[in-house]
Amino acid sequence: MDKDSIKQIYRKRAPSYNNSVKLFYLIGWRVNLYRIKAVESLNLKQGDTVVDLCCGTGLNFPHLQNAIGAEGKLIGVDLSSDMLKVAERQVKNNGWENVTLVNSDAAHYQLPKNINGIITSYAITLIPEYDSIIIRGSDSLGKGGKFVILDFKKPDGWPEWFSKLMLTLFIKPYGGTYELKDRHAWKSLEKHLRLIEFKEFYWGSTYIATGEKI
Ligand SMILES: C[S@@+](CC[C@H](N)C(=O)[O-])C[C@H]1O[C@@H](n2cnc3c(N)ncnc32)[C@H](O)[C@@H]1O
Repeated sequence: MDKDSIKQIYRKRAPSYNNSVKLFYLIGWRVNLYRIKAVESLNLKQGDTVVDLCCGTGLNFPHLQNAIGAEGKLIGVDLSSDMLKVAERQVKNNGWENVTLVNSDAAHYQLPKNINGIITSYAITLIPEYDSIIIRGSDSLGKGGKFVILDFKKPDGWPEWFSKLMLTLFIKPYGGTYELKDRHAWKSLEKHLRLIEFKEFYWGSTYIATGEKI
């Protein structure tokens, strides 16, 4: 799917996105719990700088803020200005003064140097240039910094028809297509950083992978 189509999808989804993701709970897919675990995997400290790539409406922000505190710095990057508008409202409502929102394709965004963490949740597989994003992410991390990916993948054990059905029902509305099953972003983390964690959830359809800069 091209990037203009992705923007259009998220233009429509933005106003109801935060509520629509709750529907995953109806089938036992604990999207928010995995989000909390992914933030924990960053192992951030108060005062740290973290980039949330493809941050969307900012559902990771409360957890990231808890980890870095008011003296930390949070940069949210997203292709969709509509999703960022919702994120901006959350930032204002919470009075967070340490957040910068950037409307950019993650594939073109220049990450700041020497940052402590990068997180991307439920998004990187949508981006054809995921490998180069991880290379640039690795360059921008300071020593010991972590790059955490939380995303969907095709489970090894599911029959083809069932995977297709689940993807059509639950991932297609968010821009996913069945062909994305061949994009394995965790393998890029392993290539460009030291892979220190690879955990699967929901029968292997969801994973958290953590790469550390050495
Ligand atoms: C399923 S949403 C996930 C949003 C958020 N990370 C979350 O966990 O709720 C996917 C997000 O990726 C963004 N996105 C897709 N392609 C992108 C790209 N090339 N660069 C930046 N953001 C992108 C979309 O605009 C959308 O906000």
